[in-house]
Amino acid sequence: MPQADMTDVIVLGAGAAGMMCAIEAGKRGRRVTLIDHASAPGEKIRISGGGRCNFTNIHCSPKTFLSGNPHFAISALKAYTQRDFIALVERHGIAFHEKALGQLFCDGSAREIISMLTREMADAGVRLMLSTSIHSTSRDDAGIYEVETSDGRHRAASLVVATGGKSIPKMGATGLGYDIARQFGHRVTEVRPALVPFTWPDHLAPKWKDLSGVSLPVTARCNGASFDEAMLFTHRGVSGPAMLQISSYWREGDSIEIDLAPGVDVAGELISGRGERPKAAPVSVLGEILPRRLAQQLCTDLSPAQARLADLGNAAMKAIAGTVHAHHLVPGGTEGYRTAEVTLGGIDTAGLRQKSMESTSVAGLFFIGEVVDVTGHLGGHNFQWAWSSGVAAGRHV
Ligand code: FDA
Repeated sequence: MPQADMTDVIVLGAGAAGMMCAIEAGKRGRRVTLIDHASAPGEKIRISGGGRCNFTNIHCSPKTFLSGNPHFAISALKAYTQRDFIALVERHGIAFHEKALGQLFCDGSAREIISMLTREMADAGVRLMLSTSIHSTSRDDAGIYEVETSDGRHRAASLVVATGGKSIPKMGATGLGYDIARQFGHRVTEVRPALVPFTWPDHLAPKWKDLSGVSLPVTARCNGASFDEAMLFTHRGVSGPAMLQISSYWREGDSIEIDLAPGVDVAGELISGRGERPKAAPVSVLGEILPRRLAQQLCTDLSPAQARLADLGNAAMKAIAGTVHAHHLVPGGTEGYRTAEVTLGGIDTAGLRQKSMESTSVAGLFFIGEVVDVTGHLGGHNFQWAWSSGVAAGRHV
């Protein structure tokens, strides 16, 4: 059997977190081998943010993450902040802009972020092995890790697992990180697709699917969370930032409360409309508040005896306003990992050290990025977690 190749650090997964960790460790003089089965590094970076990569968020803070332990991310996020990553982007002369709500995107292309990271890796002497399948991982009695791959055996004193979550399997996402965690005695919390569009339940699909393409600002609420962002009707259900965000808080069977006209006094508008144009149909007032097609759809629930504003008493108008301000939707489900931006849940943070991301029970074993039970809100927070957790491990491997 050919002799195994020996380095200081093996990183599994050349995504955002793995590359960042490899760079940081390489800069410290550690010999790093970074292994991925994909033919190019950072494939999710390439497709992120509609091809422009929403690489961080100015307002990123531990409050913008979900985790079994909401305090776990604090240390890594403080040690390497969004300002640190912005400084790196600026040093590489990459132009960027704030789109909305603190979200920073490249002016040009997400590929600039990948080029920046690959240049940094080259400068730090990282050995990048692509198109390499990982067959097995083990640890011997001396605490040395061995990774068997399609390109031979590799040994190192530190093993960093950065293989991401399960979202978008056709881009190479696998559950390998969870399997390795379990192999070494770590608990994995329930994982589920998040930042994912909802689908209609069968009985609502015929009524709502014709609204595909309609979008509007809403407030979406579920299980104590609330987001003021846009909602988009699709052929299959509802999407848009408000729905993607709330999907991280939703469980099967839960109702989502949607305010379709936040900040508008719908009852007041209907009552004054009745005074000004009593013969007009209710849809004429609602159509000035909501997208016309949505207003028409909501008015199909009115009886023929409510054809004119004059036919509606104040109670009926308040009922219509109630439907607009507190529309209850129980989705049939979500589009699942096929389109989910991230995986909620992952390696239980109780088994990891906050500062280094190292296992508390197995020395030299680290988990970083999306594979860990730390999931960000939409808007650059997930990449910031990848950068911050990657640096945290890179400083300790
Ligand atoms: P990531 O998934 O990036 O990397 C894991 C790596 O491990 C991959 O290179 C994969 O090939 C490799 N791997 C997996 N299994 C393996 C195996 N068995 N053997 C070998 N290698 C294996 N976030 C954000 O902040 N801003 C944004 O704009 C977007 N946009 C966005 C769009 C879309 C369409 C998606 C799907 C996701 C986003 N995200 C995002 C989320 C973001 O992409 C995600 O949180 C990070 O990429 C996570 O980084 P990691 O390095 O942890 O995993």
